[in-house]
Amino acid sequence: MTASKHEPDDSETQPERRKFLTTASTVAMGAGLAGGYGAFGAIAGRFLYPARPDDRLWQFVIEADRLGLGDSVLYRGPSGETINVTRQAEAGDVSDFIALSSTCPHLGCQVHWEGQNNRYFCPCHNGTFDPAGVGTGGPPGDSGMSLPRYPLRVDSGLLFIEVPESQLADATSRETATGEVIERAPGIHAPGHDPCLACRPTDDLKT
Ligand code: FES
Repeated sequence: MTASKHEPDDSETQPERRKFLTTASTVAMGAGLAGGYGAFGAIAGRFLYPARPDDRLWQFVIEADRLGLGDSVLYRGPSGETINVTRQAEAGDVSDFIALSSTCPHLGCQVHWEGQNNRYFCPCHNGTFDPAGVGTGGPPGDSGMSLPRYPLRVDSGLLFIEVPESQLADATSRETATGEVIERAPGIHAPGHDPCLACRPTDDLKT
């Protein structure tokens, strides 16, 4: 006598199939919700915490002891921004140094440190700034303009400047971003760069 092969009928397979479909849809729904909330969380986080510490880059500027009291160097950051890094004290820590944009907030000429006058000076319209970068004379002083300041850090005798990643040029990645100390920034360094001043004698611009 040959044993007949048992073929499962629908009444046996349907509960298994239903269970499988229920489990699968629960997993899919969970994954969907997790993905949705995850994306929402990421977007919300961007607005709530836009400047995480790892969104900023510390860039080497110079050995700290190479800057004597009153010395200033011009640093060009990864995106081309130029910054005067100046030593104004000798306490032996990072408070000795200050990093201020070298681009005048008036019309964009190049500002430089004048140690003998204890100020930053913009030659284009005789703009002056105190050692902290606050406008004190000329158009910047009249308009209450200041030079943007960058955080600094001293680590093992090396001076670093903090550059927000948002300021990197499109083509500059976090890994390849580098800055350097330069001799002279491109741009306007002298009076008469705009039509209203071009015809005026330089002496007119001196106080
Ligand atoms: S551009 Fe600097 S004072 Fe006008």
